[in-house]
Amino acid sequence: MKEKYNVGIIGATGMVGQRFAILLENHPWFKVKVLAASSHSAGKTYKDAVADRWYMDVPMPESMKNMVVRDAEADVDAIASEVDFVFCAVNMKKDEIKALEEKYAKAECPVMSNNSANRGVEDVPMIIPEVNADHAAVIETQKKRLGTKRGFISVKSNCSIQSYVPALSPLRKFGITDILACTYQAISGAGKTFKTWPEMIDNIIPFIGGEEEKSEKEPLNVWGHIENGVIVNADKPSITTQCLRVPVSNGHFAAVFVRFENKPSIEEIKKIWAEYSAEPQALNLPSAPKQFLHYFEEDNMPQTVLHRNLEGGMAVSIGRLRPDTQYDYKFVCLSHNTLRGAAGGAVEMAELLAAKGYLD
Ligand SMILES: NC(=O)c1ccc[n+]([C@@H]2O[C@H](COP(=O)([O-])OP(=O)(O)OC[C@H]3O[C@@H](n4cnc5c(N)ncnc54)[C@H](OP(=O)(O)O)[C@@H]3O)[C@@H](O)[C@H]2O)c1
Repeated sequence: MKEKYNVGIIGATGMVGQRFAILLENHPWFKVKVLAASSHSAGKTYKDAVADRWYMDVPMPESMKNMVVRDAEADVDAIASEVDFVFCAVNMKKDEIKALEEKYAKAECPVMSNNSANRGVEDVPMIIPEVNADHAAVIETQKKRLGTKRGFISVKSNCSIQSYVPALSPLRKFGITDILACTYQAISGAGKTFKTWPEMIDNIIPFIGGEEEKSEKEPLNVWGHIENGVIVNADKPSITTQCLRVPVSNGHFAAVFVRFENKPSIEEIKKIWAEYSAEPQALNLPSAPKQFLHYFEEDNMPQTVLHRNLEGGMAVSIGRLRPDTQYDYKFVCLSHNTLRGAAGGAVEMAELLAAKGYLD
């Protein structure tokens, strides 16, 4: 492992890109060398390119204000030669994103992706570091396919599943058969604020394009196993979801119902959540929460405003575990969608891959 890695942010002017800028400003392992976005922003200083669309509640990092934004598509080779790897969060068509990420990987520049374009590809790991760190092993197969020595793509999962998949993962040993999850998703998940999306004030929109499909499919990839160097999706549990956009700035909530083959007791479940610790905690990764899953006993907890920033927005908050009349149990959970669910999750994934030697 290197002492310090030079990194680029592709899509640096966007909602997730700005989060990356904040998270990486004083990162102990990663140093931002390149900021890149579309040709509209290229050539401008970061400060001018972002101008009146700085969405964060802390100021733009001083060290990045005067960096000149590069053209993410036109400057692939130059950028790849200047950094050890890139974080990528862009708003483009799926096939364009897939092509762009492969270009970076083929230029021997690993890509830590927030985009969905490469999710579900059998040799691209979709990593929630506390849940399936072992999936990194398929990178070797991917490198053979791409014909690269160190270039590869690693993706993080959709933000909607990052509250309930962590809570359910340690319970899989009881044979989960069915999951019903309704998600209540913040507007920052669409790259928006109340200023840029005033229609969301005092409103709920019962549709988020593609979200229910992702929420039902992606857990099976994360819970999949490796066979012949590729990921084979889990064939159960059966998952059904409804995803709603709610008037919240940050923080995705989920109401979850679950059925087991061998039903554990409520005490057993709470003990498992309290004791859940995985490779990121053992490796003491800089962005990993000390306690990944926090259970709240109070009936009115967790709450979005009070708990979305728990452990730097990287912890998952759970509450209201109780028996259900149709399923075995129901509970609620919450995670910060642009921290754990997006930029923070990708930074922790990069830390994990750095610690495992994939970024050298
Ligand atoms: N927001 C979330 O909570 C969240 C969570 C998980 C995943 N994601 C995913 O992350 C990605 C970005 O989301 P976002 O919310 O940050 O979007 P956003 O705020 O709309 O930002 C989009 C970024 O993409 C850049 N871009 C657009 N067209 C480009 C092109 N042709 N070449 C290079 N860069 C281009 C934009 O640059 P310009 O400013 O120059 O146009 C901007 O930097 C999406 O794939 C989204 O699904 C978002």
